[in-house]
Amino acid sequence: MKDFDIKVELTKDKKEKPAFDQLSFGTNFTDHMFVMDYTKGQGWHDPRIIPYQPITLDPAAIVFHYGQTVFEGLKAYRTKDEEILLFRPDQNMKRLNRSNERLCIPVFDEELALAGLKKLISIDKDWVPNVEGTSLYIRPFIFATEPYLGVAASDTYRFLIILSPVGAYYKEGINPVKIAVEQEYVRAVTGGTGNAKTAGNYAGSLKAQVVADAAGYSQVLWLDGKEKKYIEEVGSMNVFFKINGEVITPVLNGSILEGITRKSVIELLNHWDIPVVERKISIDEIFRAYQEGVLEEAFGTGTAAVISPIGELFWQGEKLVINNGETGAISKKVYDSLTGIQTGTKEDPFGWRVKV
Ligand code: COI
Repeated sequence: MKDFDIKVELTKDKKEKPAFDQLSFGTNFTDHMFVMDYTKGQGWHDPRIIPYQPITLDPAAIVFHYGQTVFEGLKAYRTKDEEILLFRPDQNMKRLNRSNERLCIPVFDEELALAGLKKLISIDKDWVPNVEGTSLYIRPFIFATEPYLGVAASDTYRFLIILSPVGAYYKEGINPVKIAVEQEYVRAVTGGTGNAKTAGNYAGSLKAQVVADAAGYSQVLWLDGKEKKYIEEVGSMNVFFKINGEVITPVLNGSILEGITRKSVIELLNHWDIPVVERKISIDEIFRAYQEGVLEEAFGTGTAAVISPIGELFWQGEKLVINNGETGAISKKVYDSLTGIQTGTKEDPFGWRVKV
């Protein structure tokens, strides 16, 4: 890897760490952060690591008004031998640049960002938790900083990486979650920004999420924006169904996020010769499979959510209880293997791990 000039300013005021056996998701932040700026004509410049601190922006900054911003999510794990491992971080950097392209944000040097991330984690290494089911969640994000109220791409940007020691994303942990199929709102349409990790996709999903939450569901399952017929994703995860011995996941269509955990699960299933297909799948087909007793399992995949079994789907007034509301064999196998590779307790035949 190239040698990059990344300046470091260490904090004089280290924070107290939370108890690693009681971590929630995304509420604690480490002592430092990575920062880099973009100025038109100059490109990305001044990569640096500084103490974690609030940021000051002009109230007219484009990000506040028109949401020109993108983000990523990945994790670092502490092994039993006190090594720190990242999982396919190159894939996150690539996807962040794909999101940049979609949002008219200038692309950055992925190697530089990865070097900055590794340096940041090395500095804050004591924040990588060592309790089973925990990790250091990494949130790279980029936003438009130019003060301008016209609708246009900004001439200036800031790139930050912050770190957060986390436990499970869902309060259910590895236990099955209940998901409501969304019938009123849509998340994305083909040609929109659904396959970019940009704030607006998430802001637009809140309304449905609030309604689902009040009804006792963890999240909503989005259908396609045109016909409200085909399964897309669950906002914080991609989805897989096992029907009649075959694992099916919606094919990427431009409005579904290209999950790195999704891709890894498909590669794992192929490696084990478990039949897996990517294709359009309608909610009617899921319902039919349920009625015929061949909907064997369902699970979601995501960086934050890891592998999350789906124990119940709510659809048009019906509760579809899947696998008696219990974690299925494939969900368990995939969870064990993936987390084993990530945390260094299992072989990594794919070369997915990257040492910090
Ligand atoms: C992740 O899995 O890292 C995500 O980005 C989902 C998130 C919105 C919590």
